[in-house]
Order: sequence, then structure tokens, then C-alpha cells
Amino acid sequence: MQRETAEPRVEQLPGPNASQWVEFHRQSSAPSTYVYDFVWDITEDAIGPFCTDADGNVLLDFTSHVAAAPLGYNNPALMEKLRAFDLVDPLKIAGQDFYVSTGGAPEETEMPGPAHLMDTLVDVSDQYGMDTVFLSNSGAEAVENAMKICYDNCDVPKYAVTFEGAFHGRTLGALSLNRSKSVHRRKFPELSGVVDVPYSMEGIERLREKLDPERGHVPPEQVAFVILEPVQGEGGYQVPSQEFMRELDQLCSEHDIPLIADEIQSGVGRTGEMWAVDHFELEPDVITSAKALRVGATISSMDVFPEEKSRLSSTWGAGDILSSLQGTLTLATIQEQDLLTHAEEKGDRLLGQLRELGDRHQDAVVAARGLGLMTAVEFDTKERRDDVVDAALERGLLTLGCGQKTLRLLPPLDVRDRELDIAVDLLDEAVGATESAN
Ligand SMILES: Cc1ncc(COP(=O)(O)O)c(C=O)c1O
Repeated sequence: MQRETAEPRVEQLPGPNASQWVEFHRQSSAPSTYVYDFVWDITEDAIGPFCTDADGNVLLDFTSHVAAAPLGYNNPALMEKLRAFDLVDPLKIAGQDFYVSTGGAPEETEMPGPAHLMDTLVDVSDQYGMDTVFLSNSGAEAVENAMKICYDNCDVPKYAVTFEGAFHGRTLGALSLNRSKSVHRRKFPELSGVVDVPYSMEGIERLREKLDPERGHVPPEQVAFVILEPVQGEGGYQVPSQEFMRELDQLCSEHDIPLIADEIQSGVGRTGEMWAVDHFELEPDVITSAKALRVGATISSMDVFPEEKSRLSSTWGAGDILSSLQGTLTLATIQEQDLLTHAEEKGDRLLGQLRELGDRHQDAVVAARGLGLMTAVEFDTKERRDDVVDAALERGLLTLGCGQKTLRLLPPLDVRDRELDIAVDLLDEAVGATESAN
């Protein structure tokens, strides 16, 4: 398959092989978030955003595995290094109990490991004075540890602040901060003292009132942290205003409340900056990252982390050698290929195309929005959105829903004009099909 000439090609989806694999998978797997019966065949051709499914259908993947594969399929720069890597066993070690070297002196090694990943994360976060990283296994764990360090630093940690529409993970601590869908929280025990306000200027005003020593009921010195997604993901790809971010930063500084920027979906170049907060006048005290990094990371400054041994730990935290290699190479490729500029340019182009699509389908499309390559189209109803996701898939374009009635597009960071054009044409047809069906 050549990236320059590849085209989506669908005969039947799911085809007979995909159906078998789905059935086999379901025999022993717990029901989860599976959106549709797309089965990637890892033994077949895939390059950039193109991949082959279990029946030989070629798909244009504009989900990047929910931002977890930012360089698309089989990125040559990544593959070359991965091929040179000799597999070892164990590939995952108890990395917060023991250290690992990847040969020679740290600065000379050909194979970056967990320590290099942390070193690179510090480099790309030093504009916020961050010099320390705690590695874990997932986004939810990155958030859990961000919360823990903030609770630990607060003398009377009674409160935390989150935003309407937020999503921060599914573990019991992290889910207490979610305000996007009831399915994430219903019946589960939650952390106490989590206050939520709207993700808008109205929310800033409400928070200001709550923290006001005279009129409010939330003593600022008891607020362990404010957590926000710099662009909301699950909540529907909501991009905040500059004013909202600036005022939030000021309010938190005024009351000395630490700010956690959850960059698990929006970070690692997705929006055209390394971190989405880099677009705004907001200085986070803690950053959480995962997905595109292949591991979880809680990033902050040394004085924020507890010194006491075992206060934070995880068996595989800094011990996933292969994932750390992939994470470090991903960050290096983004820098070497100037993919931040590229993502910004292509994101502007894609957003322009989606706005034109909205103009052509005014009855169906409410808005197109996004930042960099974190782009979305909001529809008039949830049913329409679901129908468009299905109709796009039938035409060979993989997309995902988010929010109540929004469809998200997350192409790889090195997406090309030709691929954007194909995707927008297919989406256009898919929206048209739902209009003629209604
Ligand atoms: C903003 C945000 N935070 C946290 C998470 C949780 O990450 P994980 O699924 O790796 O636990 C996600 C996952 O979608 C996310 O988008």
C-alpha cells in the first residue's frame, strides 16, 4: 500500500471475517465502549491514516485510535527505530522499584527508555517550571496521581473543582471529577467535596462567588486543585475562550489554588502545540498526559511531589520499556518533522472545510469547531450524529462520537491534504445520505 495513492475501499462492513473476530472477542470480554464492528487486521497493509480490516476493506482512520496513535499506522520514522530494537524479556519491569538502562551512557544510547521519556517531557514542559515526572500506565492513573499530589500539598484538602462537560477517567477517584455523561458515575462511590461549575465565563463568575471569603461557602485554602481539559474531549470538543482561560488562571493565582491541565486527549501535539494550554494565558501547576505517550505521565515541579518513599508508586509505572521507547520516539518525531506547525496548518484547513460542509448542510449541522487536529462537527440530533458515523463508516471513513451529538475527527498529526479532501468528501456524502433518508 502506498500512502500517496491509497483510497478507502469497502465491500461489506463488518464482513464475514470481522464478524467472526468480533464474536470470538465477545465470548470472553466484558462489554465495553466498542463503537462499531471495525476489526483492524494487524498482518495486512497499513500506512498513515489508511489501514486494512479483517476482510480486506481499506479504511481511512480519522480517529487515530482516540488520539492514542498520533503518528498513524506504521510511521516510517518510528518503525525504523522499533525494528532495530531487540526484544527482551521481561519487557515490562517493576520500574519504580528498580531502574533500567538501555545500554552505554544515558546520553549516548540509541534506544531511549523510561528515563529519556521523562527527560523529554520535562523539556517540553519547562515553560511552566516543571522538572519532574511520575510515570504510570494509563490516563486515569495520571489523573489519580495528579490529584494525590495536590491533596497532599493542601493542609485541609476538603474541596476540588471540576467543570461541566469534563471527563478525566474511569477509576473511582478520577470518575468523581467527570461531568460529561451519567454512565461514567452512576452508583459508584465518589470523592467528597468536588464542586462543579460551567465551562464558560459564567463558570468563572460562579467560582469567584464560591471562593469569596464573604459570600462564598468554599474556603480557597481548602481547595486542593482545579482540574480542566484545555479542550474538552468526551464533553464534545469544546474549545474555551482566551478570556475564560485567562480569568481562570488569575482566579487560581489569586487564591493560590493549583491548576491541573488534563492533556490526555489534547496533548502531545494534537492541537498544534505540544500542550493545548500552550495556546492560552494559563499556567498549569500539573499536567497529565497519556494516550499518545503510550504510558501515563503526571508532570509537575519537584516541590509538588511527595519525598516520602512509596507515597506514589506503581509496579509498571516507569518499567514499560517498549512503551517508553514509543513515547519518546513519538515526541522526537513530532519535533524532528515539525508536526506542531503541520498540525496547526492542516487543522485550520480541515476546520475551514468542515465549516463549508456545515454551510452545505445547514439543516443537519449545528457547528464545526476545533483546535489544530482536534476537530468536530456538531449535528442537530444525537440520532443524526450516530447515523453519520455509520454512513461514514460504510464509505470507509472511521470517525467517533463525543458529547451528546458531536462527531470528532482526529487524523494523524502528519495528515496530508489529499487525505483531508477524501475524508471531507466522504463525510459530506454521509451527511447527505442522512438528509435524504429523513
Ligand atoms: C481528557 C481525558 N482524561 C483522562 C482520560 C482517561 O484515560 P485512560 O482511558 O487512559 O484511563 C481520557 C480518556 O479518554 C481523557 O480523554
